[in-house]
Amino acid sequence: MKTILIINGPNLNLLGEREPEIYGSQTLEELNREIEEYAEGKDVELKFFQSNHEGEIIDLLHKFRNDSDGFILNPGAFTHYSYAIRDAVAAVSPPVVEVHLSDISSREEFRKISVIEPVAAKQFSGEGIGSYLKAIDFLLSL
Ligand code: DQA
Repeated sequence: MKTILIINGPNLNLLGEREPEIYGSQTLEELNREIEEYAEGKDVELKFFQSNHEGEIIDLLHKFRNDSDGFILNPGAFTHYSYAIRDAVAAVSPPVVEVHLSDISSREEFRKISVIEPVAAKQFSGEGIGSYLKAIDFLLSL
């Protein structure tokens, strides 16, 4: 049985009420429940985390680097400028899949750059919850 950690970064705790026209009306709890349902019957255990703090996200990557088979990371706005999270992603050996609900390539200029992508195993962006589901299947296919 594989273990995958799903880490959601800043402001994703406000899903459902936060810019629903961009991020949808589902709360983070509902999103996680649907992801959990999708994974039922697959040979995987999912663990869910959310943090608004850069250092906490780094600590999670460090803490589970030897106890997980992969990470699914939505770094929120840290995607676009956190070299510290990028270095943590590069430092840990389990593959890290970067995911985004919205399509970061078709929004504001600053969102078009991901400093995480070059060190991520894969990026899924713009597919809503589908980005997370594809990330699970990708990690399970490795
Ligand atoms: C996001 C996209 C980021 O640009 C933004 O800062 C977020 C959410 C997404 O899932 O679409 O917080 O990562």
